[in-house]
Amino acid sequence: MKLPRQFFKPLAIGAPAPYRDLPVRLERMIHFVPPHLEKMRAKVPDIAKQVDVVLGNLEDAIPSDAKEAARKGFIEMAQATDFGSTGLWTRINCLNSPWVLDDIVEIVTAIGNKLDVIMLPKVEGAWDIHYLDQLLAQLEAKNGVQKPILIHAILETAEGVKNVEEIAAASPRMHGMSLGPADLAASRAMKTTRVGGGHPEYKVLADPDGDKPRVGYQQDLWHYTIAKMVDACAANGIKPFYGPFGDFADLAACESQFRNAFLQGCVGAWSLHPTQIEIAKRVFSPDPAEVAFALKIVEAMPDGSGAVMIDGKMQDDATWKQAKVIVDLAKIVAAKDPEMGKVYGL
Ligand code: GLV
Ligand code: MG
Repeated sequence: MKLPRQFFKPLAIGAPAPYRDLPVRLERMIHFVPPHLEKMRAKVPDIAKQVDVVLGNLEDAIPSDAKEAARKGFIEMAQATDFGSTGLWTRINCLNSPWVLDDIVEIVTAIGNKLDVIMLPKVEGAWDIHYLDQLLAQLEAKNGVQKPILIHAILETAEGVKNVEEIAAASPRMHGMSLGPADLAASRAMKTTRVGGGHPEYKVLADPDGDKPRVGYQQDLWHYTIAKMVDACAANGIKPFYGPFGDFADLAACESQFRNAFLQGCVGAWSLHPTQIEIAKRVFSPDPAEVAFALKIVEAMPDGSGAVMIDGKMQDDATWKQAKVIVDLAKIVAAKDPEMGKVYGL
């Protein structure tokens, strides 16, 4: 294991120093764009105003014969668009693919100073993060990249789930993780054909009650994995996300899946269809009542020290820090979304 004093050193001479704390960013939804399609690229400036993160997808769902076009299209849309406070991410191809090296080298060379996060699919263990970490440091140094490009892992193999704690702790470059239910289902040989969400046959039967028909209660297939991922992320100060929900017509089920993930500790989810953007905004924005209370704390303790009573509850430096996270997030939401700003009174 690396010595603690080495952990935060740049991995290449001239690469930017790794972050000690993640930058505060609003990332309620990671919106997927297929960048090989010109029609979709043309929508990006508009989409960037509506979402928190725009992600150019190079991996699954991009046909093999369009991989190069997707990479070039992503670079083109990154160069042509002013993203403002919206994050710019890409999902590169997986590390055992023939495309990934060019994905990383060409993208960092062309737009390294604009790119916030690289999403790495099918991460199996800390060794995958170490490989990308080192390569990114070399490319950052070579191309004069000023701030570290972060890594977001997709948790979508049985081996990755087994190693989730080591993955979360692998590097100060770790931004967070998303659950990838479709690949994970395949990796585990689960008997489903869906992209996320529940399954009508995964249920617990109520006890028999005479001749009455037995009722079955559907259970959450993803509870165990999300909980495991949330613990690994929270323990390492990085962010957990729910991933894709494939049934675009079932908005209620999508909202329920997002909300379950939110209640368990996730901070955002993927949006693969425009209708999912609104759902993610609704589910993952800070609660107005929480914001109102956090504002009271911050106002009552301007320098964040000492202790005060608010509505009968004791506040001190620790609750001030929690309040500050909520207020900072609410301010970013308000800056992006004036309607929410009014609701928050900001
Ligand atoms: C996402 O990549 C998934 O496999 O669900
Ligand atoms: Mg996948």
